[in-house]
Amino acid sequence: MNDKVGRNDFCPCGSGQKYKRCCLKKGVVQKNQPVKQAYYKKYNIRIKDEKDIEGIRKSGALVVQTLEAAGNFIREGITTDEINTLVHEFTVNHGGKPAPLNYRRFPKSVCVSVNEVICHGIPGPRVLNAGDIVNVDVTTILGGYFADASKTFFIGQPGKDAEKIVSVSLESLRRGIGAVKPGNTTGDIGWAIQSYVESEGCSVVREYVGHGIGFEFHESPHILHYGKKGGGVPLVPGMVFTIEPMINLGGREIRTEKDGWTVVTADGSLSAQFEQTLLVTEEGVESLTPFGL
Ligand code: MF3
Ligand code: CO
Ligand code: CO
Repeated sequence: MNDKVGRNDFCPCGSGQKYKRCCLKKGVVQKNQPVKQAYYKKYNIRIKDEKDIEGIRKSGALVVQTLEAAGNFIREGITTDEINTLVHEFTVNHGGKPAPLNYRRFPKSVCVSVNEVICHGIPGPRVLNAGDIVNVDVTTILGGYFADASKTFFIGQPGKDAEKIVSVSLESLRRGIGAVKPGNTTGDIGWAIQSYVESEGCSVVREYVGHGIGFEFHESPHILHYGKKGGGVPLVPGMVFTIEPMINLGGREIRTEKDGWTVVTADGSLSAQFEQTLLVTEEGVESLTPFGL
């Protein structure tokens, strides 16, 4: 992949087209320039090598285990702070570090977002009630590598609205992942998500997006959960990023609470989210935080 490419070779982006008709024409990868260098220069994207991928995969496995532990623990009557304690201790006991703690002064080890909270909920004394939906967003540093994933859980029996928003946000992540392969673009991911979500009468939050990840918590590029087919950055093997659509039952408008973190729906409607860390492969995509979707 990092070898020099000739005009008539297959394009290093994996599209299956000749290089001269693909990335060379698009001006992304210059003649004789390694893809890794081109992507760093043009987009500030750090393509990962095998060793990096193995590191992120290990970190991702711990994230998935942590989410599983959180899922087994979560129930009516506990506080969101108890989820924080569980995630913190589970992570540290397995040799990891919770990335959120002290990240840009975030005060806790995990984001816990209940009902109308879209993201960045700060764990605290709030007690979970039957019928609530709760997103737990875990980011772990293990061996110097970051991985990030989240799930939305039901407390007790969900109502009709809760069922709907959780099902649409889950399917929107599936559709986003389905658009990940070399030769597609970040815009294709956004389009796949937005077109589905809006066809279900729900809305996509614009202010928060997926992101490159691995060496840092948030790297280039932004992965918008809305957009146009063919827009944005062409995907190439070795890119690692999250897809994490935040989906509202009502309007897409947001409000941030006075704590400076908690983001809620402006209209008070329910919001749900699922997130995974994805690797672009030659064949398509591999989740580095694989949980059943
Ligand atoms: N985990 C979130 C994401 O998916 C980011 C949380 S930032 C924090 O990108 F500081 F609130 F932890
Ligand atoms: Co996250
Ligand atoms: Co993320």
